Amino acid sequence: MAEIVKVHVEAGLAMVTIDRPEALNALNDETLAGLEAAFTALGNDKSVRAVILTGAGKAFVAGADIKAMAENTPREARAFARRGHQVFSLIEDFPHPVIAAVNGFALGGGCELAMACDLRIASEKARAGQPEVKLGIIPGFGGTGRLPRLVGRGRALELLLSGDPIAAAEAHRIGLVGAVVPQAELLSYSRAWLAKALANAPLALGLVMEAVDVGLEAGLEAGLRFEAAAFALCAATGDGREGTRAFLEKRRPVFAGK
Ligand code: CAA
Repeated sequence: MAEIVKVHVEAGLAMVTIDRPEALNALNDETLAGLEAAFTALGNDKSVRAVILTGAGKAFVAGADIKAMAENTPREARAFARRGHQVFSLIEDFPHPVIAAVNGFALGGGCELAMACDLRIASEKARAGQPEVKLGIIPGFGGTGRLPRLVGRGRALELLLSGDPIAAAEAHRIGLVGAVVPQAELLSYSRAWLAKALANAPLALGLVMEAVDVGLEAGLEAGLRFEAAAFALCAATGDGREGTRAFLEKRRPVFAGK
């Protein structure tokens, strides 16, 4: 059987494609296992410096697989939610930037998957939302936690209580996605964005991602302390010396990632 989650690595950039178009890339056990295997392997691949996650066909991901969930007992439903949390946390904690290139429907678990990525870039065709209440359930893969953190409580509740999808432009307006580009340019735009970020000092990129997460999860004061420690660490790196010296010497820095 063909792999549902396809991975292609080229020049440090990994492209991860969920390829189950007959179900609009809905997340069943096999798809979650494929995502887990892909991100575990990429995390162990020292050549990888960034990931673009996208979907094949007209959907990014149309949600958790409704067929797989329909007959769940409460115990099974809880286990399915916790499994989603586990896999999405693996993606959220990935040590390098992960962009969700949202090529189409990002509904329910699909919107939640995009939110577990570091950045979201949407095609003009994308539609996002949390329609679970229309199915008599609630989000189970992190939507109640990540959506309000991303767009604020009021806007999150508009999406969560109405269940209505929003177009790419509206997702951009409320801060759910960082940019909207024509469909044909989605991957090239995502690659170009990453190339620009990856030209910066590698250790600094990792530390800044870590500091943001500590600040959000542990609170401001703990976050500020971590920031100061990470800032101090930068002063001990070659890249920290190189970047500041290059500025003073009016030349471009050459970062070694050390
Ligand atoms: N689960 C399983 N199968 C799905 C699916 C899903 N989430 N979304 C779409 N599909 C399947 C359809 O059943 C259909 O299969 P068949 O051809 O075998 O009937 C196929 O994908 C194509 O879908 P449509 O014919 O419906 O395509 P469309 O273009 O007419 O509509 C859509 C697209 C508006 C996205 C519609 O498919 C839809 O509303 N999908 C469900 C979206 C949704 O409710 N997602 C939330 C799921 S619950 C969840 O995610 C909980 C959680 O947080 C863990």
